[in-house]
Amino acid sequence: MPAADKAFYVTTPIYYVNDAPHIGHAYTSTAGDVLTRWHRQRGEHVWYLTGVDEHGTKVERAAAAGGVSPQEWVDTLVARDWLPVLHTIDAANDDFIRTTSERHVLGVQRFWEVLRENGYLFPAPYQGFYCVGCEEFKLAGDLVDGDGEFVGHKVCPIHGRPVEELEEENWFFRLTAFTDALIAHYEANPQAIRPASAYNEVMSFLRQGLVDISMSRSSVGWGIALPWDPNQVVYVWFDALLNYATAVGYGEPADSELGQRFAHTWPADVHLVGKDILRFHAVYWPAMLLAAGLPLPGTVFAHGWLLVGGEKMSKTKLTGIAPSQIIDTFGSDAFRYYFLRAIAFGNDGSFSWEDMSARYTAELANGLGNLAARATAMVGKYCQGALPAAVQIGPAEQVLIDAAARAATGADACMLELDFAGGIAEVRAFVELVNGYITEQAPWVLAKDPANDGRLHTVLNTVCESLRIMAVLYNPVMPKAMSSLWEQLGAQQALGHLADQRIATVATWGQLPAGTQVTKGEPLFPRIEDVT
Ligand code: MSP
Repeated sequence: MPAADKAFYVTTPIYYVNDAPHIGHAYTSTAGDVLTRWHRQRGEHVWYLTGVDEHGTKVERAAAAGGVSPQEWVDTLVARDWLPVLHTIDAANDDFIRTTSERHVLGVQRFWEVLRENGYLFPAPYQGFYCVGCEEFKLAGDLVDGDGEFVGHKVCPIHGRPVEELEEENWFFRLTAFTDALIAHYEANPQAIRPASAYNEVMSFLRQGLVDISMSRSSVGWGIALPWDPNQVVYVWFDALLNYATAVGYGEPADSELGQRFAHTWPADVHLVGKDILRFHAVYWPAMLLAAGLPLPGTVFAHGWLLVGGEKMSKTKLTGIAPSQIIDTFGSDAFRYYFLRAIAFGNDGSFSWEDMSARYTAELANGLGNLAARATAMVGKYCQGALPAAVQIGPAEQVLIDAAARAATGADACMLELDFAGGIAEVRAFVELVNGYITEQAPWVLAKDPANDGRLHTVLNTVCESLRIMAVLYNPVMPKAMSSLWEQLGAQQALGHLADQRIATVATWGQLPAGTQVTKGEPLFPRIEDVT
């Protein structure tokens, strides 16, 4: 039984440090950040983990090509590229795990000792294929015919490059012992793999039957040594997957601080992964956990790929775009908004500067940004910056009051399902409604005759109150712009920190008190000169 006050625990994959991050990596971390910020605003205790995967052949070879030791290589890239990218995308992760850290190395060694003691490991020769790009043992049936310079070769379907042939003496993990247990688990818990296409893929893989799998490598030097056979290192995936447990204190004494963290955090509620690494997370990982007697994660959610020219964006294929290339122009909020709004989570999607620019201008600069600028400017001009009271709430206002409640409930339901595009659409529909309201009510016309003051004040109050609700609901997606909006509304003084506002009560109308100091600040989404 998980602890009663268990944290809502979300993880990203840990990223290979063979190269610098591209927007495909930032996409997962952004999704996790929006999800966890949303849950924090629901008042839940949350733990959000991300990190880096530093061992394995891929990293070892990148370091060799760079002429430095693997440790120097990963230290440099983590400090120079991987930690800063979290700042660039404005991620509020609670922890960052490195697989070369002592806490991880010791936890991994402890874990595999336990599995050996439990009788799930045996030594045997491995003969077969290996894709270094995937860091994965491949069956002949997994491969496709190469093209271009690789015509005549069997290649990995993801990397388009020839695989290597291995022949080595390894330790094997008795994966076959868990086929039936995994099928039974997923039949009883269909939400444990999402979306449904991912569920079906895993189920058909399981029903074909599993084979025992190599869990160590003898021809790789850069990894975690097996405590009982130091000539072997743990196969990089069976080292990496354990980060989710070692980072929150797996194997630490139950009465220690870390042991307590484990009790209050494990199992993970959501493992976010790209669809290419689904099998590792939905087959091998739960089998490892079952072998160790640990509870299984709540959901593995497999999202799609960001494509370039119809193919997965990748550094290997030189199609990677660095997050900063987009964020330097549009800012982190627009980056976060765009990728979660434009691509249904679970589907593939393409990035284009034209589409990004068009949505930024229409939905952010002209939509929400312009609404906030107009409302705050008019409170300044007509009411000396003091929020007027709503004195004549009529049918037009009631429409917005009802719509606000629907937006909050609707967005909450979507976010809980990881339907980010749906959640954003709920808030966006509300923004559009309020934009229509301000155009119809035309407060700039009402202001011409003091006899209309009651209406004028009601309209301005209604728009500012609506903006308060937008700030709270959009805060998980666009924290920087929404905290600026919060300031401009004077809500910080009146209602406290934006992040402390709760989704459950956000739509309760009339929270911004009359008299609150409203100021027109910098544009939330400044106009962008032509970027195409
Ligand atoms: N190190 C492993 C994960 C170990 S988790 C225990 C790994 N690393 S990776 O750097 O190659 O990929 C990390 C994540 O980035 C994966 O979920 C992968 O799907 C994602 N992406 C890499 N390129 C991507 C796109 N072009 N689009 C979307 N996500 C992509 O695999």
